[in-house]
Amino acid sequence: MSPHTIIIDTDPGIDDAMAILYAAAHPGLALAGLTTVFGNVPVTTATRNAQVLADLAGGAVPVAEGAARPMVRPAPPYPDHVHGPEGLGDIAPEAPHQRPDHRPAARFLADVTAARPGEVTICAIGPLRNLAEALALDPGIAARVAGVVVMGGAINCPGNATADAETNIWCDPHAAAAVLAADWPVTLVGLDVTTRVTCSSADFAELASRSPRVGGFLARAAQFYLRFHRTKHGLDGCHLHDPAALIALTDPGLFRFSGTPVCVTLDGPAAGRTEADDTAATPSVGIALDADIEAVRARFLAVAGEADARLGRG
Ligand code: BDR
Ligand code: CA
Repeated sequence: MSPHTIIIDTDPGIDDAMAILYAAAHPGLALAGLTTVFGNVPVTTATRNAQVLADLAGGAVPVAEGAARPMVRPAPPYPDHVHGPEGLGDIAPEAPHQRPDHRPAARFLADVTAARPGEVTICAIGPLRNLAEALALDPGIAARVAGVVVMGGAINCPGNATADAETNIWCDPHAAAAVLAADWPVTLVGLDVTTRVTCSSADFAELASRSPRVGGFLARAAQFYLRFHRTKHGLDGCHLHDPAALIALTDPGLFRFSGTPVCVTLDGPAAGRTEADDTAATPSVGIALDADIEAVRARFLAVAGEADARLGRG
C-alpha cells in the first residue's frame, strides 16, 4: 500500500518534535510538509525548530511559516516552563540547513491539497489559526482533504491551560471554532486520551540506545519536559499529547471515537472550553474519548525506535 500523505501543522514544542519524528519514521506515512504556528514558542522559533526537525527527518520536507498570533484574542504567554524558551528543552538552537518555503502556511495547505485532491490529511498539533485561514482563503480545501486530525480539546476531563480549556484550543478559540464548524472530516484527539499516554525517563533512555541519532535527539529534548511533569504532576513520565494524535491516524483501531458536534467557548473565563453537543447545527467531529493506552504508548516507542534504521544515521 502506498503511504498516506500528511502535512503537520505545528508549534514545536517537545511533544511536537516527538510527533513529527514519529511521522517521519512511520513506513505508512509520507510527510509532505510542516506548517508552523505560534503556540509553544513564537512562530519564528517554531519555524526554525520545524526546519531542524525536517533536517533530522531527511531534509526533503518543506516548512512554511504561518500565524504569529491568535485571530481575535490577545496573544497568550509562551509556556517556557513546559518546552523551554527555545522550544526543544535543553537542546541548543542550531541553524537549519534548508530555507523555509516562500508561501504562508495557509497558501501552502491550499496548494498541496489542490495538487493532490482527496489524498492529504492535515494533522494539526498546535493552535488552529493556519487551518482557519486556509478555509477562509480557499473554502474548497474542505472537500479536498482526506481528513483533519487535531490534537486539542478536553471533553470529559479538566483542561491544562485553564480548568476548562486545553492549550491548543485556548490559544486561539476563534480559529478552533471555525475549524470544528467546517464541513470537513475532523478527528479530535484531546486530553481525555493524551494525558494518559506517557513515556518515562527509562523509555527515553531505551529509545536513545535503539535509535541514537533521532531517538537520542528526542531523549535529550525530553529531559526538560520530564522535569516539568515531575514538578507539576509528580510523574516519572511525560504526556505524549501530539504523538497520540498521529497514532490516532496510523492506528485508529486503538481508539474509541464518538461522532458528535463540538462547540468552543470563545470568551470569558471558560474561553477555549470544548463541549460535545449533539444538538449543535455543525458537522459531527470524531472525538477520541478512550484508547488502549498501553498499546498507543508501545506504538510510539516501536516506531520511534526504528527511526535511525528508517531515516538513515545522518
Ligand atoms: C498541547 O499543547 C502544547 O503544549 C503541546 O505541544 C500540545 O500540542 C497539549 O495541550
Ligand atoms: Ca503542539
